[in-house]
Amino acid sequence: MITNTELEYKGNLYPDQIVDFKKDSDKFYFTTQNGVILEITVIRNSTIRFRYATDHVMEPDFSYAISPDAPRGYKDLKAEETDTEYLISTAKVKVLVDKKSMRVQISDLEGNIINEDELGFHYEENYTYGGNSVKMSKITQSGESFYGMGDKATHFNLKGKRVHNWVTDQYAFGKDQDPLYKAVPFYIGLHQNKAYGLFFDNTFKTHFDFAHERRNVTSFWAEGGEMNYYFFYGPDMSRVVRSYTDLTGTPELPPLWALGYHQSKWSYFPESRVKQIASKFRKLKIPCDAIYLDIDYMDGFRCFTWDKTKFPDPKKMISELNEDGFKTVVMIDPGIKIDRDYWVYQEAIKNDYFCKRGDGPLMSGKVWPGQCNFPDYTNPEVREWWAGLYKELMSEVGAHAVWNDMNEPAVMEVPTKTAPLDTRHDFDGHPCSHRKAHNIYGMQMVRATYEGVKKYVYPKRPFVITRAGYSGTQRFASTWTGDNVATWEHLWIANVQVQRMCVSGMSFVGTDIGGFAEQPNGELFARWIQLGIFHPFCRVHSSGDHGDQEPWSFDKEVTNIVRKFIELRYQLLPYLYTSFYRYYKESIPMIKPLVYHDQEDQQTHFRTDEFIFGEQILVCPVQEPNAKGRRMYIPRGTWYDYWTNETVEGGSEKWVDADIDKIPIFIKEGAIIPKYPVQQYVGELKIEELQLDVYYKNGIENSMIYEDAQDGYDYTKGEFSLRNFKLTGKENELILQQFKDGNFITTYETFKLNLMGLPFKIKSIQLDNESIALKDVKMNGSNTIHVTKEFTTLHIIGK
Ligand code: GLC
Repeated sequence: MITNTELEYKGNLYPDQIVDFKKDSDKFYFTTQNGVILEITVIRNSTIRFRYATDHVMEPDFSYAISPDAPRGYKDLKAEETDTEYLISTAKVKVLVDKKSMRVQISDLEGNIINEDELGFHYEENYTYGGNSVKMSKITQSGESFYGMGDKATHFNLKGKRVHNWVTDQYAFGKDQDPLYKAVPFYIGLHQNKAYGLFFDNTFKTHFDFAHERRNVTSFWAEGGEMNYYFFYGPDMSRVVRSYTDLTGTPELPPLWALGYHQSKWSYFPESRVKQIASKFRKLKIPCDAIYLDIDYMDGFRCFTWDKTKFPDPKKMISELNEDGFKTVVMIDPGIKIDRDYWVYQEAIKNDYFCKRGDGPLMSGKVWPGQCNFPDYTNPEVREWWAGLYKELMSEVGAHAVWNDMNEPAVMEVPTKTAPLDTRHDFDGHPCSHRKAHNIYGMQMVRATYEGVKKYVYPKRPFVITRAGYSGTQRFASTWTGDNVATWEHLWIANVQVQRMCVSGMSFVGTDIGGFAEQPNGELFARWIQLGIFHPFCRVHSSGDHGDQEPWSFDKEVTNIVRKFIELRYQLLPYLYTSFYRYYKESIPMIKPLVYHDQEDQQTHFRTDEFIFGEQILVCPVQEPNAKGRRMYIPRGTWYDYWTNETVEGGSEKWVDADIDKIPIFIKEGAIIPKYPVQQYVGELKIEELQLDVYYKNGIENSMIYEDAQDGYDYTKGEFSLRNFKLTGKENELILQQFKDGNFITTYETFKLNLMGLPFKIKSIQLDNESIALKDVKMNGSNTIHVTKEFTTLHIIGK
């Protein structure tokens, strides 16, 4: 019996008997008597697309989410037919389509059901707007858990929740508040140790119910558009996340400075204040790579202008900051002030670039500058114009990067917080209303920004940040989680949001460290920095109306703690950069929640706090005041406590000491962690020697280090250095093998190896099969050795 209110509605229509079947290279078409068409595309053995149309009409196929580099289709497949169903098989899954109801069941090759329709596809005609509300219901499998969905500020496991996707300017949002700034209609299901993913590529407002309304049913629906979803089979969660990320794309490598520590506030002005902040970092020796200019640098909040009283010579200021190792990041919003004397406004009016309402007038709304019009970024011509507006700002004034905000688009003083729904959009030649374009508006804005910034900072790499986003936005920009609050609860939210974004294809993410609204005390700020240095984007930002939030704004003890952790981030830059490389190249998320790390271990399915930074570092923030440590789950395997080098066996919860100057950090045994010396900013020092912290293991572990020129595009022409290390530990020996790829010559000649946990005293060392005297490897103490970077095999033999 159906009890779901969404489904109960008697206006629902269902596909009936399949009366026609057709195959067209990589696609299968099934048509029912009542005119429902199901198009199935096998994109890869484990990626299958399902698309439904009604009344025999398929709309033109168009998506902003899918990467131009995504895999396209898989030829030469057969469907078998029985009396009751059709069967499509790939090397990974079997898809059954029921002839009577068009319901779909997907199983693995052993016949285990991975995902099956309950009612399956159904729809309801939308009498107000035209088109359909399109709906899908699936059976929730026993013990099934759910993950993904972008920036939801709720428990990491979504089982029992209902969530909504409608990008929203949600100032000072709370735990469980929904929707927020991003719309990522992608989830991962996990049951019986098998994971799959489902991406509902529909830009209208969408809703997902994960066994919330009915215990055995998972459903999702949209207020318009098509039922159009991609199914990804694992069985490993890592495979699912990578398949989804391959489909929606990854960013190019950022300049390395973008992974440094960044300082922001609403707002640093005038020029003298900006410089004062910058020099204080250098004076106190707290590393920092970028300083941010929020809206107040503009003349009356007009984008692409400068307030010349606050910033009389921005070019000179930016260049002086640059000499001191600071990059300048400037904010640009979508709303263009209605002002007849303002050139950007004039150009947009002249060329008809602003969005219009359904009945013709320009769409207008209030934002920071007052009444504004809004460019239609869904029009390719408008995007090109917008990209061109960055020319002066980037090439002449010399700004290094751009931060796009308010691009939901946010509109003030209206209950909907955004554009009216009848606003028209080009949607790249598929004209539509804001109901369809809302969720991708910010994405298309930042896409245009990215194109412009990329063009004008060339031959350097672009760095762009966005607040709003839809699936695929990661191809163009990094992001932050919006206007959070300086509370302990928000520290928990920050941790969950970043993990969730990482498994939702968007790894280049961080939060306003310390909280945007309100003011943290020193303890909360220190704890947040300890977490924030492990986030791919690491920036302190605050609204500024409750006081300062610089590393020195609290007491001396806090300043010292903050310095210590920012220094750790700078030491770990080669490790972090390698995980960015793997994200860019192999679609591997930069942060892995515990369930991603070890889905076979049921204990991980409901964990929220612990995560793996990169591949081999386990981190767990302290999220309560006055704590001297915390209980945490250590995943299975052997780990080294980063602070004491003691080993611990995982597979259970443990108390871990972590007074205010520590955060629990563990290193996977066998790992080789590369470290740079502490620099005040990226590129300050020539790296003379690469430190490798080697964590002994009785067994085998692989590690990787990626390096290149840290900016520019030579890496795409082979100018990179990729070192793969294989560590093999035995009772009385340790062997490191190095496999090198790429032509880039690193500046250092030697490695400094810190050998941790070695169970023996070193008797002799062989480098590429030649014995070398211990004095030639420059042993310091008993477990630090310096060797040439060129070795293939380093063999350490014990006494
Ligand atoms: C929004 C942004 C915030 C920014 C402020 C002023 O609230 O989310 O980061 O500081 O606008 O531009």
